[in-house]
Amino acid sequence: MEVSVLLPAAGLGERLGRGPKAFVRVGGRTLLDWALETFSFADEVLVALPPGYRMEDRGRVRYLEGGPTRQESVARLLEEASAPMVLVHDVARPFASRDLALRVLEKARAFGAAVPVLPVPDTLVEAVGEEYGPALPRERLRLVQTPQGFFTALLREAHAYARKKGFQATDDAQLVRALGYPVALVEGEARAFKLTYPQDLALAEALVWSG
Ligand code: CTP
Ligand code: MG
Repeated sequence: MEVSVLLPAAGLGERLGRGPKAFVRVGGRTLLDWALETFSFADEVLVALPPGYRMEDRGRVRYLEGGPTRQESVARLLEEASAPMVLVHDVARPFASRDLALRVLEKARAFGAAVPVLPVPDTLVEAVGEEYGPALPRERLRLVQTPQGFFTALLREAHAYARKKGFQATDDAQLVRALGYPVALVEGEARAFKLTYPQDLALAEALVWSG
């Protein structure tokens, strides 16, 4: 076995307002189905579902109960992973391509950890109360996406360290950095955007029908 895909899908999708995102449909298929199709090359796929949701294990796809945070959901999936490499992917990004996943995996194999990023298109500033604050150096900043790839042992160590330190992060690469290991950057994809707000669903449907 070479790569385990971990799909944290245990969020409640509160901002989208359609229930847990794993079961939200885009182009007639659930976000979970989109992810399973993208990662059909994986030896093993582990999915974290919200508490109270159950699905039958099927072939290489196994379902677990997630935790109260994304980080905890990934930690639970990681315990069950049996391959030396893992790809962690948000089901909320249905159009991340297989090509992207394979590029991330290749970089992670060479480097230990790799994530897709995009440049920031807009001007970025701090809000100081209600006022326009200092500008942030956009050229140096990146938007972080998934899938993120890691040596399984490295990500396990990073999660254990974060738990010990009480460190919480919104993605897995930050935990690896906190442990003191570098994370390589891979060029991300506009289409790998995350469905977060209701208007993102309209964009997603448009993308499905435009191909
Ligand atoms: N996630 C998870 N376990 C949690 C929280 C989030 O597995 N306890 C997953 C989500 O299912 C999603 C990914 O982490 O695939 C990114 O989270 P986000 O986009 O914030 O989704 P939700 O938490 O579901 O949405 P919201 O924050 O609006 O409720
Ligand atoms: Mg969330």
